[in-house]
Amino acid sequence: MTQQEEALFQQRLARHRDELRWLYMELYDNGPMFDALCGQMHGYAETRAAALKARDAAREADPDWYKRNDLLGMMLYVHNFGGTLRGVESHLDYIQECGVNYLHLMPLLASPRGKSDGGYAVADFRTIQPELGTMEDFNALTSACHQKGISVCLDFVMNHTSEEHAWARRARAGEKEYQDRYFFFDDDTIPNQYEQTCPQVFPTTAPGNFTWLPDCRKMVMTTFYPYQWDLNYANPVVFNEMAGNLLYLVNQGVDVVRLDAVPYIWKQLGTSCRNLPQVHTIVRMIRMICEIVCPSVLLLGEVVMEPARVAPYFGTPDKPECHMLYNVTTMCTTWHTVATADTALLRRQLDILAGLPQNCIFQNYLRCHDDIGWGLDYDFLARFGMQEVPHKKYLNDFFTGKTANSFAIGELYNDDPRLGDARLCGTTASLCGIERAGFAGDKAAQEKAVRLDLTLHAFMLSQSGLPVLYSGDEIGQLNDYSYKDDPEKASDSRYIHRGAFPWALAANRSIPGTLQNELFPALRRIEEARRSHSVFDAGVPFHTIDTQNRAVLGLVRENESETFIGLYNFCGERCTAYTGETGLYTDLVTGEAVDAGNVPLEPFGFRWLWKETPAHP
Ligand code: GLC
Repeated sequence: MTQQEEALFQQRLARHRDELRWLYMELYDNGPMFDALCGQMHGYAETRAAALKARDAAREADPDWYKRNDLLGMMLYVHNFGGTLRGVESHLDYIQECGVNYLHLMPLLASPRGKSDGGYAVADFRTIQPELGTMEDFNALTSACHQKGISVCLDFVMNHTSEEHAWARRARAGEKEYQDRYFFFDDDTIPNQYEQTCPQVFPTTAPGNFTWLPDCRKMVMTTFYPYQWDLNYANPVVFNEMAGNLLYLVNQGVDVVRLDAVPYIWKQLGTSCRNLPQVHTIVRMIRMICEIVCPSVLLLGEVVMEPARVAPYFGTPDKPECHMLYNVTTMCTTWHTVATADTALLRRQLDILAGLPQNCIFQNYLRCHDDIGWGLDYDFLARFGMQEVPHKKYLNDFFTGKTANSFAIGELYNDDPRLGDARLCGTTASLCGIERAGFAGDKAAQEKAVRLDLTLHAFMLSQSGLPVLYSGDEIGQLNDYSYKDDPEKASDSRYIHRGAFPWALAANRSIPGTLQNELFPALRRIEEARRSHSVFDAGVPFHTIDTQNRAVLGLVRENESETFIGLYNFCGERCTAYTGETGLYTDLVTGEAVDAGNVPLEPFGFRWLWKETPAHP
C-alpha cells in the first residue's frame, strides 16, 4: 500500500477498533484471535484493487447513493440468463435496456450438483461453479458492470456450508478441530432438546434441524437441508475464516453483500435459535470490518420476518448493522391484497413502515427466487374475522387456482398439513393471470392480467427504497414446469419460478401485439417516471390515504417541491377513488391531466398523479 493508503486504513481502523475489539472480546475473549483478524483486514486492504479503492472513496463521499430514485435492481441466475458469467457480460446491454443499474447475481460459488439448494450450499467460498466460469470471469464481469454504472450484489451464505466443504469433509473424517466448526453431537440427546424450541424451516422437504451421519456416527445440526451444515459462530476460528471469505469476495468487485439467512447464525439451547442478541453483535462486527477494509460495500440482510423483527437489523444510527433489508411483509401483504381485493392490511403495513426512522432502507420486490410465505399480521386480520390457518388456506387456494374467483396459477411449497402452513410459488405473470388467460385464449382476461401485473410493479416502484425486479418479470415470464422432470429438483417447487430466461420471447418486446410488448415498454415508462422525480427518493416521507374504496390503495409521497399520489385498484372492476384533493394533476405515466378529486380507475388499473408544489415564499 502507498503511505497514503496505509494512513487511510489506519484511520478507518482507529475509528472502529475499540468497539470492534470490545464486541469481539465479549463473544470470544480471545486477544490473539482478534489481532489475527486485524492482520487479516490489513492484508485484504493491501490487495484491494485500485479501482475498488477509488469506488470506496467516491461512495464514502456520497453515502446516500443507494437511497436515490435513480437506482433500479434486478436479480437473476447466471445460468438461466446468460449460461455463464461471460454470457451475462455479453448481455449487459439488455440489462441496461431494462434501466437496471443494480444486479443481484444469484449464488455462483462451487456447490455440489443435486445438493446445492440453488447454490445456497457452498462447497468453496473462493471458487466459481465451473459451469459458470472462473474467478477471473467474475472479476471481469464486475468491472464491466462498474464501467456501465451497474453495482453488483452477491450472496454471502454464512449460516452454513455444504457437506462437501473441506471443513465438513475433515469433520466427517473425525478431525475434532473441524467438528468444532459445526454443531456435532454423539447422539440425539441434545439435538432433541434443541428440537423442543427450534422451529423448522423446511418441514416437508427437510424435516428436523439435525442429521445423523452414519459413517462417523455423529449428529450434525442442519437447520436447512441435511447437506447444509450449520456453522458454529461461537468458535472464533469460524468468525475469522468467514470474515476472510467475505473480504476475499468483496475484493472481486462485489458492491452489495446479501447476508443470507442471517437471523439463524447464532444457536443456543432453549431458544428458537433465531434473532439472538449475538447475531446483532456479529452483524455489527461485519459492518465495521467492511467500513475498515471496503467502505463502499453495503450489507443487505435477508431477514424473512415481520417488521418488528426485521427493523433491529438496521442497528441504530450510531451503531448501524445492515444498510438494507428485504421488505418481505409488504411483498406478501401485496399478494394477500390481490387475493382479497381489500387494502386494509396493506395500508396498515405501509403506515408502520412510514413511521420507521430514516436509516431504515428497504429492498422492495414482488417476487424473488424463494416462495411467498404468508407472514401476515394475523392479529390485525382477526379484527375482520380472518383466522390464520383458514386464511392461509384461502390464499393458497386462490393462488393455485382453486377458488371460483381465481385467475392465478401457482404451486404450494412445503405443504405440511399438520401446520396448515404451506407457502406459495409461481412467477408474477402466472400469479397475475397471464398464464391462465393465455391458455384460454381469452383476450379480455389477458388485458386485465397485464394491467394487474403493471399495477403491482407500479406499486412496488412507488414504495420507499430500492426496487428490484425478478429477471423475466419485465417480459411476463411464465411458470416453468420442467423442474418436475429433474429428480434433483422435483421436490422443490421453488424451481417453478426459476426457469431459463426465454430470449426468443424477450425479442418480442419491440413487436406490437405481443404480450412482451404490452409489458416491457409500459414498465419502462413507469420506471423512467420514477427515475425522473426525486419525490421517489427513499428519504421522502409518505403516507396512505382513505380512498373511500377498500379495493383501492392510495399512497402519497411529498417533498418540498412535488406531491405524488399513487392509486392502485386491487379489484377486477372499474371504480372511482376519492383523494380529498382538488385540481389537476399530471399522470406521470400517460402524461394526461387528471382531476385529482374523483379518479376513475380501470379494473386492476393504477394512476400515478403528480404535481409541482410551488415553493413557499
Ligand atoms: C435463504 C435463501 C434460500 C435458501 C436458504 C438457505 O433463505 O433465500 O433460497 O434455501 O437461505 O440457504
